Amino acid sequence: MDVFRVQGGARLVGEVTVTGAKNSSLKLMAVALLAPGRTTIHAVPHILDVTIMAELLRRLGCGVDYDAATETAVIDVPEHIEHRADYDLVRRMRASIAVLGPLIARTGSADVALPGGDAIGSRGLDMHIAGLERMGATATSEHGYLVVQAPASGLTGTHVYLDFPSVGATETLLMASVTAHGQTIIDNAAREPEIVDICQMLIKMGAQIEGVGTSLLTVTGVESLAPTEHTTVPDRIVAGSWAVAAAMTQGDITIHHGNAAHLAIALEKLATAGAEIDSWDGGFRVTMNQRPKAVDIVTLPYPGFATDLQPQFIAMNAIADGTAMVTENLFEARFRFVQELSRLGAEVRTDGHHALVRGKQTLSGAPVEATDIRAGLGLVLAGLVAQGETIVHCVDHIDRGYVRLEEQLAALGAAIVRETIPDLG
Ligand code: EPU
Repeated sequence: MDVFRVQGGARLVGEVTVTGAKNSSLKLMAVALLAPGRTTIHAVPHILDVTIMAELLRRLGCGVDYDAATETAVIDVPEHIEHRADYDLVRRMRASIAVLGPLIARTGSADVALPGGDAIGSRGLDMHIAGLERMGATATSEHGYLVVQAPASGLTGTHVYLDFPSVGATETLLMASVTAHGQTIIDNAAREPEIVDICQMLIKMGAQIEGVGTSLLTVTGVESLAPTEHTTVPDRIVAGSWAVAAAMTQGDITIHHGNAAHLAIALEKLATAGAEIDSWDGGFRVTMNQRPKAVDIVTLPYPGFATDLQPQFIAMNAIADGTAMVTENLFEARFRFVQELSRLGAEVRTDGHHALVRGKQTLSGAPVEATDIRAGLGLVLAGLVAQGETIVHCVDHIDRGYVRLEEQLAALGAAIVRETIPDLG
């Protein structure tokens, strides 16, 4: 049971380098399943979720060699792969659902354990299932598993309209359609940079996809795909988290390998809060010389404000000058973290999917618990500006998305250490 012990008060100054996006790498590893042979993926972050995805691919029959030093995953996909994703892995990482599309495309069937709810909301699979059914598949729920079966002749392309631009459903349908018969149109598709990354890798493998980066994806099925080599898009959420860290601590951080264009609204909000932002091809710098001003935010699918930066911005608003309204439109339970933040003295009132944050001059260090990756970040950031010591428990959530966060923060001047505390059972 690891905790972070944070002493508030340091101004963070220095440089960081962002690696590949967690939410892209995990899916790219699943994309590899679509082509027998050896696929190599670079800029795969050394985080717990990558270890879990590697294990899942091994159980499906692949050889996976992950080198943490070079952040490279080499995946050897056999001609014959298994089609079952077990509960013990899916339960640990919802992104396991990314194998659903490739398994149906490759084997004609998929048994994937139902991920169930998690700490940020119910997160259904209805749009994944409805899309696959429109392509001719049958789907049932059996003994806690989603069992999807393609017809003997394979999936057939069709027009699928998503009720909501779901990242996961767009990915499932993309991966299922690249080798389906005929043309599949995914309408109201998600257009996150991670979706663009997946499309680009699929195209390198031989897939025919038009409309990449738009909400209308047209996929023309091909006979088969070939293995490839690909580098993951930089992690915009990690880059955005560093940007908020600079603004909150009145610091000065240069973020290499960050793509400012992928963070347009978030950086605009930081500028409104008083930060100075300089960006160039391949990085940006955030400097703050004053207490941040409160900024309203509304989370929406890309290019809207990312829900994965919402807790970090609530933390900033908690010490900002003024009052901010934060509206969460994607994950209803993401405000759970507010209860923890209030242990540091933050004044936040929630009503449904709105949170009203009254900025305070100071927060006061206390023990808190991370409930998910991004909530964990929000709490660490709050601890960095709180008076005295904050102990963040359950940092394994943070480790799922950030590589050695405490070492990177310490290099910027933060007083933070990781400690293992005995589990009292
Ligand atoms: N939804 C449904 N039915 C579906 C699919 C989605 O109701 O069939 C709902 C979900 O319950 C949720 C909303 O639609 O309320 C958005 O879900 P979406 O499918 O877009 O998200 P996801 O694929 O489950 C990914 C990221 C999340 C990120 C969201 C939104 C991965 C592994 N996860 O989730 O990342 O917040 O997109 O951008 O890619 C994180 O990294 O901390 C994280 C939670």
